[in-house]
Amino acid sequence: MRVLRDQGQVTALCREWRSRYGRRLAFVPTMGNLHAGHLALVRHARERGDRVVVSVFVNPLQFDRPDDLSRYPRTLEADARLLAEAGADALFCPEATEMYPEHEPVTARVVVSGLSRILEGESRPGHFDGVATVVAKLFNLVQPDLAVFGEKDYQQLLLIRGMVASLNFPVLIDAVPTVREDDGLALSSRNARLSPEARARAPELYRCLRDTVDACVLEPDQWPDIFPELLATADARLRDAGFRPDYLSIRRADDLGEPGPADRDLIVLGAAWLDGVRLIDNLRLLHGKFAGPA
Ligand code: PAF
Repeated sequence: MRVLRDQGQVTALCREWRSRYGRRLAFVPTMGNLHAGHLALVRHARERGDRVVVSVFVNPLQFDRPDDLSRYPRTLEADARLLAEAGADALFCPEATEMYPEHEPVTARVVVSGLSRILEGESRPGHFDGVATVVAKLFNLVQPDLAVFGEKDYQQLLLIRGMVASLNFPVLIDAVPTVREDDGLALSSRNARLSPEARARAPELYRCLRDTVDACVLEPDQWPDIFPELLATADARLRDAGFRPDYLSIRRADDLGEPGPADRDLIVLGAAWLDGVRLIDNLRLLHGKFAGPA
């Protein structure tokens, strides 16, 4: 596996693979501290591409709180080992000054209007502008045929799809289902920050979303009128379990708009603080039924 730190190096290598050898490039952008969820993205990229490029870059632009940025785990050596084992062909791991040179302040940002201001965007102002900007930069550097994102960050996935469609990036966006622990907790780099006691309570977020989905499925004729009551029940349960919910919401899956009575493809989303750690999760309803493993 090639390890590259300069923008010029990654662009030259990817151009050579694509133009000279006609390889199909699959790209997985990450912020490192890799776990089985990331490796599922890399496996998907391996199946769909001839060459797999992974970036590990903790993007300062997308952190709304300085303490979150400074505490974000940086484990590059272990990440590189895992990526080599998973069959990645190149790791791009630039310093922040390489992506945002100090002598050249960021003068252009990518803003995906609408979607970047609701739910996660409302709770974390500026977050999605930072995500869209760095992903646009990475797409321009790597110029992949295909890029892979996780459904765990569902709003991010829609945001990237929106950006790619609006700005005509010639890249396909593939989504990979959320990977969970046996008790249902969605894998996240932030889980490692939970105390053992909070870790034991953390799956309650998944269970609340799952029970909300099951309650929806039982009464499809009452959609969306029953949603506020179901969400209030989930909110109370989470508070009882020691969480501080940021939001719990049921939205249309294709654009995160407010659902009407005829909408059947929905997503139940939640974000909540536990033990100083912010957890997010979501579950899909497709054609009015739970779309996920039982
Ligand atoms: O999902 C992430 O890890 C990040 O938001 C991403 C897409 C790598 C951009 O920094």
